[in-house]
Amino acid sequence: MSTERPDASYPGVPGEPGFMVNVGGGRRAEAPAEGIPPALAPGAGPPPLISIRELKVHFDLGGGGVFDKLVGGSPVRRVVKAVDGVSLDIYPGETLGLVGESGCGKSTLGRALLRLTEPTGGQVLFRGRDLAHLSKGEMRGQRRHLQMIFQDPYASLNPRMTVAQIIGEPLDTFALGGRGREREGRVSELMKTVGLSPRFLKRYPHEFSGGQRQRIGIARALAADPDFVVADEPISALDVSIQAQIMNLMERLQRERDLTYLFISHDLRAIRHVSDRVAVMYLGKLVELADAKVIYRDPLMPYTKALISAVPVPDPEVEAARRRIVLQGDVPSPINPPRGCRFHTRCPWAIEKCREVVPPLAEIKPNHFAACIRISPEEPDIEKVAPGDAPGLRGTGRVIAQ
Ligand SMILES: Nc1ncnc2c1ncn2[C@@H]1O[C@H](COP(=O)(O)OP(=O)(O)OP(=O)(O)O)[C@@H](O)[C@H]1O
Ligand code: SF4
Ligand SMILES: [Mg+2]
Repeated sequence: MSTERPDASYPGVPGEPGFMVNVGGGRRAEAPAEGIPPALAPGAGPPPLISIRELKVHFDLGGGGVFDKLVGGSPVRRVVKAVDGVSLDIYPGETLGLVGESGCGKSTLGRALLRLTEPTGGQVLFRGRDLAHLSKGEMRGQRRHLQMIFQDPYASLNPRMTVAQIIGEPLDTFALGGRGREREGRVSELMKTVGLSPRFLKRYPHEFSGGQRQRIGIARALAADPDFVVADEPISALDVSIQAQIMNLMERLQRERDLTYLFISHDLRAIRHVSDRVAVMYLGKLVELADAKVIYRDPLMPYTKALISAVPVPDPEVEAARRRIVLQGDVPSPINPPRGCRFHTRCPWAIEKCREVVPPLAEIKPNHFAACIRISPEEPDIEKVAPGDAPGLRGTGRVIAQ
């Protein structure tokens, strides 16, 4: 049985002063309406387009059976907790950037939102409707509103289909495209929208450059006229010179088509460029959420501090004066992740309590949420808190000024 539990003596714990359930842009939860998760209770501003509540995606790798023990395998069942209790609101028209080291669960979260990966638990509400519990048929009806742009534009395009067929496929799937010339006209329009000449309608993916292929992928995502797009590392496979073009294209399309993006990347500079708000993930959990400018200027949670400190600042003087936090040790395995705060094995500020207590994502400053038991609205600056004192943790994670 897990001993993980939130601790009532820390800020952000239900029932305690300072507990805030809302994980959106400052729309505080009051008394929730019956049957509606607290964060969806009415507040100022438009309601969220997507609300994620305690979302879990666990991959069962098996093991733990008699046979496993006989052949010297794992004596316990191995479960990858790729996403483990994430709650988040995404508001109409915003770009929410999702960052974190490789393997922390970003893609799994993005895919689970669209039910491309089945959630193990929790809710994904799209305009208040729980997608996680829709039947396959009902989900198909919703899918045209929720689309995805993939990392590798080549792998995600069928090499045997022409561009016209690729972009036209969603038109057929959702019966939006008409036939013959009408359909061709719609595909041509979509090509123009993403900066491709309709002269290339009959060409195949291999005849295009990487950037052009990503434009085809974007046109395909747009064909169904979606409201919400998960862009999973959409520029990572592209040359640096092309990356800016694709980001600019996505920004223009967002303005023109009222799109809402979840932009997933491990590239913190790209995330800073495109995001309105930024969410940081570590080992399946959200650890910080704030306005993009704020999180880059004033990260609160130690892991975010380390990530942000590695991003170069264009101003040479500021850059020279900056302190870099170099994390020691590798990211632990998401199979049986560390108890308590998952970051405690690498955190320079870890104390014994961090092994036991799961820090809730709490509002430390207005609209700035962080998961760390050693900071609070009264003392939000971990640098002012005494360094870690957990026996056995000393030395595994150190703050190194460079
Ligand atoms: N189908 C699967 N079966 C088992 N484990 C999986 C599966 N998909 C993902 N995982 C595991 O879940 C964890 C999270 O993976 P995920 O791809 O979501 O991470 P990520 O943050 O997107 O990483 P990257 O930055 O490398 O893309 C990883 O440990 C990964 O190995
Ligand atoms: S101080 Fe403790 S709770 Fe805060 S990030 Fe470090 S290990 Fe986690
Ligand atoms: Mg990924």
